[in-house]
Order: sequence, then C-alpha cells, then structure tokens
Amino acid sequence: MQTKTLYWQDNTLFILDQTLLPLALNYIEASDVDTVVDAIKRLCVRGAPAIGVAAAYAVVLSAIKADPQANKSLKSSVIRDIEKLWQSRPTAVNLHWALSQQKDIVESFNGSPAQLVDSLLARALSIHEQDIQINQSIGDLGASLLKPESVVITHCNAGALATAGYGTALGVIRSAFKKNKISRVYAGETRPLLQGARLTAWELEQSQIPVTLITDSMAGYLMQTKKVSAVIVGADRIAANGDTANKIGTYTLAVLARAHNVPFYVAAPTSTFDLQAQSAKDIPIEERHDDEVRQFQGVVSTPEGMTVWNPAFDITPANLISAIICEKGIINCPNMANIKAGIEGK
Ligand code: MRU
Repeated sequence: MQTKTLYWQDNTLFILDQTLLPLALNYIEASDVDTVVDAIKRLCVRGAPAIGVAAAYAVVLSAIKADPQANKSLKSSVIRDIEKLWQSRPTAVNLHWALSQQKDIVESFNGSPAQLVDSLLARALSIHEQDIQINQSIGDLGASLLKPESVVITHCNAGALATAGYGTALGVIRSAFKKNKISRVYAGETRPLLQGARLTAWELEQSQIPVTLITDSMAGYLMQTKKVSAVIVGADRIAANGDTANKIGTYTLAVLARAHNVPFYVAAPTSTFDLQAQSAKDIPIEERHDDEVRQFQGVVSTPEGMTVWNPAFDITPANLISAIICEKGIINCPNMANIKAGIEGK
C-alpha cells in the first residue's frame, strides 16, 4: 500500500513530513491552521495538488478552533485564516483553487458552527478523493502517448507525494508501467531541495519501477547519448496560453528536449490551470531563502554569506510543450484556443 501524503482523522490533519524523506517516515499532527501554514512553507507538504488538499483541511481546523460562542466573529475568523493560508506559497495555484471553494462556503454560510465544520469537511474530503481519481485518469490518458520500452525523464516530484495519491507525471509513468511501456525512468535530483533524489527516486523504488538518478546537469548528455522517449513533468500553474510554471530546471529540460527532438509532456489536473493569467508574465514565481542554496540539511557548502539567487520555479513557454495531459483529455500543441477547447469543451 502507498504511503499516504496526508489524511484526516479525529479532527486532526496528519501530514507526512516530506523534509525527512527518505530517511524517516514521520507524520505532523496538525490541529490548527498555523501548523499547516508552517508545514506548507517548509515544504513538509509540497506539490501543487497536495498543497491544495492540505489547505482545504486547514480551513476545517480553523472552523473547529473558532469559539462556538462567538458566532458573529466565526466567519471573519475563518476568512482571516484563509488569507493566511492563501499567502503561504505564491506559485502553486491549486492552493487558491481549493481555498476559493472553502471561502465560498464560509461566505454563504447561514447555520450553526457545527454545520459549517461539516460543510467544510465534506468539501475537503471531496477535493481529496477527487484528486486521486483525477490523477488516475491523467495517468491512463498519458500512458497512451508512450510506446513500449519507453525511457522517460522526469523532474522534481510530481508523484503520489505531491498529490492526494497516484501522482500526475508519475501517474502517467505508473499507468504506462502497468501496460509494460516503461523500461526506465531517469529522475533529475532537483537542486536545491532534492525532491527528485529524495522523493521521486524513493517513490518509484517503492513501486518497483526501474529508476536511475541523475544530477540536473546530466540531462543534456543523457539526451545526446541515450535514447530518451519523452520528458514528463508536473505543473504548479498553467496560464491561459499554455505557459507553464513548474520546479526550477523544467525550462532547461524543455529546451534540451526540443534540441534533441524528444516530446515534452506536462501532466496536470484542470485545477492547475489559471485562466485569469494570460501568459507567463501573470504567474508569480516564488523566491526562497538563500540558505537553501548555501547549505543542505544544515551543512554549509559555500563561502560564508555567499550571494545567492533562489527562484523555486521557472516558466516553460507553451511553444516548447508537445502536449498537456489533464483529466479531460490530451491538449496537443497548447495555446489559448486549444486549452479553452480542452478544458471547457469549446
Ligand atoms: O516546491 P515543490 O516541491 O512544491 O514543487 C513541486 C513541483 O514543482 C511539482 O512538479 C508540481 O507541484 C507538480 S506536483 C503534481
């Protein structure tokens, strides 16, 4: 059985602490919003869909914690917590997608505090459950793009750990593997926080899918010297024109893929599309603390106080993407018209 990224039990959100993987399996027990905000900021829970699910449950915690006597301030107290959660990470739009749904419930609420908790919990459970089903659909659709004996490269972790389960890019790989279409996955280690080395390598090994780890700078030589069938990655936000934000290094892979005539696929649920963002210019890119580059797990590897630039994401322009795989279908040559047709059926 797959290790759960997060689960709800006895009015508590249990979050697998991904900062400790693969060395330790430890769950954070969150019974208030601040614990969830901290877990999101520190990447204990990370990956766009998983952040959305965690935030949806955090709103339930907010309503549980609000003083049941102070009925009048209940709504404003939960809305304040939603604002706090909203700011916790800027690029992954699934966070705002899930929080908007909870905010709508709070704003139109007209019953007892207990009823509000029930409604918010029902929505959080449904977002959680649907995410798993959506990933399975993405996986099955995406697998149809691959031929037997495929060798694929993936980046960061877009697996079960980045979602409620199964994964987006790794969902495609899982489904393709079940159909005997995968001979090997190359996982980029994903500097600076090593989501590829710590999480993807672990997740694929657990599922007995053949995986080879490379450092990010080895991808070009890999494509030049070995047969690579496809690059498959996840996404944190996709603009209306198809420009896609994903973990830093994704753009480099897309450029390399184009230079080597390798198809470049993005796998993401429709909740990762932000149709208000027209293009890359409307996508905020998170910049994280310098120490993430200066050191790893407390061990300093640079001269003291080294000047660092640490953008957590980059943008792959739509023209470098062969197709986006979402639960509604495969959007080939993504552009504004194809995306609208693909996700709205127009
Ligand atoms: O900073 P992270 O680890 O949250 O970044 C995660 C990614 O970039 C993933 O590829 C993306 O969220 C897709 S997850 C299905």
